[in-house]
Amino acid sequence: MNRSKFYVTTPIYYVNDKPHIGHAYTTILADVLARYHRLLDVPTWFLTGTDEHGQKVQKAAEAAGISSQEQADRTVVRFQDLWKKLDITHDDFIRTTEPRHTTIVQQILQDLYNRGEVYRAEYDGWYCVPCERFFTEKDLVEGKCPECHRAVDRIKEANYFFRMSKHQEWLVQYIQEHPKFIQPDYRRNETLGFLRKPLNDLCISRPKSRLNWGIELPFDKDYVTYVWFDALVNYISAVGYNSKPELFAKWWPASYHLIGKDILTTHTVYWPTMLKAMNVPLPETVFAHGWWLMGDSKMSKSLGNVVNPMDMIDRYGLDAFRYYVMAEMTLGQDASFTEDSFIRRYNSDLANDLGNLLSRLLNMTTRYNSGLIPAPAAQALDGADEKTLWDAVQATVAAMEQSVADMKLNAGIEQVIVAVRAINRYLEIKQPWTLAKQEDKTPLWTVLYMSAEALRVCSALLYPVIPEKMGELRKALGLKNTKPNVADMKKWGVLQPGSAVKEIGALFPRIVVEAPKTGDRQLELGEKPAAKPEASVPAKEPAPAAVEGVIEYDDFIKAQLRTAKIIGAEKIPGAVKLLKLDVFMGEERRQIVAGIALHYEPEQLIGKTIVIVANLKPAKIRGVESQGMLLAASKGEKMRLVTVDGELASGAVVK
Ligand code: ME8
Ligand code: MG
Repeated sequence: MNRSKFYVTTPIYYVNDKPHIGHAYTTILADVLARYHRLLDVPTWFLTGTDEHGQKVQKAAEAAGISSQEQADRTVVRFQDLWKKLDITHDDFIRTTEPRHTTIVQQILQDLYNRGEVYRAEYDGWYCVPCERFFTEKDLVEGKCPECHRAVDRIKEANYFFRMSKHQEWLVQYIQEHPKFIQPDYRRNETLGFLRKPLNDLCISRPKSRLNWGIELPFDKDYVTYVWFDALVNYISAVGYNSKPELFAKWWPASYHLIGKDILTTHTVYWPTMLKAMNVPLPETVFAHGWWLMGDSKMSKSLGNVVNPMDMIDRYGLDAFRYYVMAEMTLGQDASFTEDSFIRRYNSDLANDLGNLLSRLLNMTTRYNSGLIPAPAAQALDGADEKTLWDAVQATVAAMEQSVADMKLNAGIEQVIVAVRAINRYLEIKQPWTLAKQEDKTPLWTVLYMSAEALRVCSALLYPVIPEKMGELRKALGLKNTKPNVADMKKWGVLQPGSAVKEIGALFPRIVVEAPKTGDRQLELGEKPAAKPEASVPAKEPAPAAVEGVIEYDDFIKAQLRTAKIIGAEKIPGAVKLLKLDVFMGEERRQIVAGIALHYEPEQLIGKTIVIVANLKPAKIRGVESQGMLLAASKGEKMRLVTVDGELASGAVVK
């Protein structure tokens, strides 16, 4: 990536209300980028904070019957608590009511005023209260606010203006010459489109008679500063502009201002012209991401569909939430949040692919080598399959680096999951459970070591996204240093043979959702599924039904028998006879609990094509959901699975 430093910011959020998933999203994105650059040893500074002045906050305070400062003090804690809970690693948190910010804003205003960049004028025009913006007659759309379409007020008052219009031509040229300044490209075009109309000067004051909650103009005590002219300055005041020259030289210009698409104009028109007037270089990139929609609709308080990140974390865990928002949104575009897609993604990527791989490896290491990382063959990477796997994993390291540089994080994450699947496939090809029966154990040790090394690299790549779980995974693999570093990530042979692995429970326990019964209503987003009775269901052991009497074909055909391929198998803690199987039935993935643990080792089962009753009502067996039943034949002590003779795709009808 060749960066000498990385300075990333989030918008500073209004303290008129508590944080929601949108705020959490931008902040997690910044956190992942910051963590990733730290992993690459790039000096990193990550700034977030709160926007505490202005009409929105004053109104919220009035509604709550408290002072504006009190409103800010109470709400800022909710943001800070959420960042703690989300394990956000910001280096600084700025509040715009802090003197380190307000004094700098006043210095800047005084300087611009002295140099004639800010002037006083009589204003006669339209004002939109909710948007806090002035509009001319021709800006209005059907007499209403062009932004929010609400009624506007006629206002006649003296105000202070920033000579924004004089920088219009320069700005257009700058944007054209610096394609990286506004990203993605379609946002750059949006700003350029906006700049085709003549730019007005920007009203940067509000008379105290209308709004008193703001930074007082240093040259006129009757006015406070317009909230955006105050807020944008946080990106430089926090890193020592006009106060700590060394610090400022170290971090400015910012590498990225991350924002949502809602605040594109302020960041790509107001902010660059302000900096130009101050003679301060522009940030490298303003990156505007898309919008989280709730299903198909906008998230809004009035629709009552605002997702509280705290609830999601409480229900599914911190890393499940971080993973979902990072993997699900294609950076730049809108994404739709649904609990369904949340569960689907969690179960497939985290529970099945990643979590299962770890538990398979831990199980086998425990069983075959007393829980110690084995030593691979001396030239392990000379093996064709080993070389292919290692090359694929290292290609993923490069792909992740590229996807971070290109702001295509979700693509990078997808690549890592592809690599995890490749490790699972490698195990299926190598069949360590077969190798375990050989006299010479070296091939077995190589396979186990190779898989663990490959998984270690994948865990480093996912660490910035899901730090808590990847820390656990790395500890389970016997790594002393759970925090990854860039050198290790590119090196073969970091796991120490002889070090002990740690058996842990499922890293990502599968989320089981009961299929809604007819008449059941859909769960509302954010609603907890009702607790399900667990205790009374006895362990059912699938066994061939005793044949009694003759049945009709129609009776027989009621049971839908299908072939299914076993792709995962594990013991169920506390249930000696049961195994939990993961099977593919055509496109569908199912989990089946079967009483075959005394007859089969989990590893023996992987890859087998069996027959299941596909339309059996799902049941909970020892608290674990079973979505079907497999067929097995038993006589006396012996039990053998019913399998298919020869190759046949899973999901085939059996009759
Ligand atoms: O605009 N989807 O603060 P704000 C994705 N104080 N991101 C969302 C979102 C959604 N549905 N809703 C909000 C302000 N966001 C100003 C910023 S910066 C100098 C001043 C995120 O509290 C997104 O990052 O309204 C958006 O830009 C930001 O929250 C707006 O937060
Ligand atoms: Mg907003």
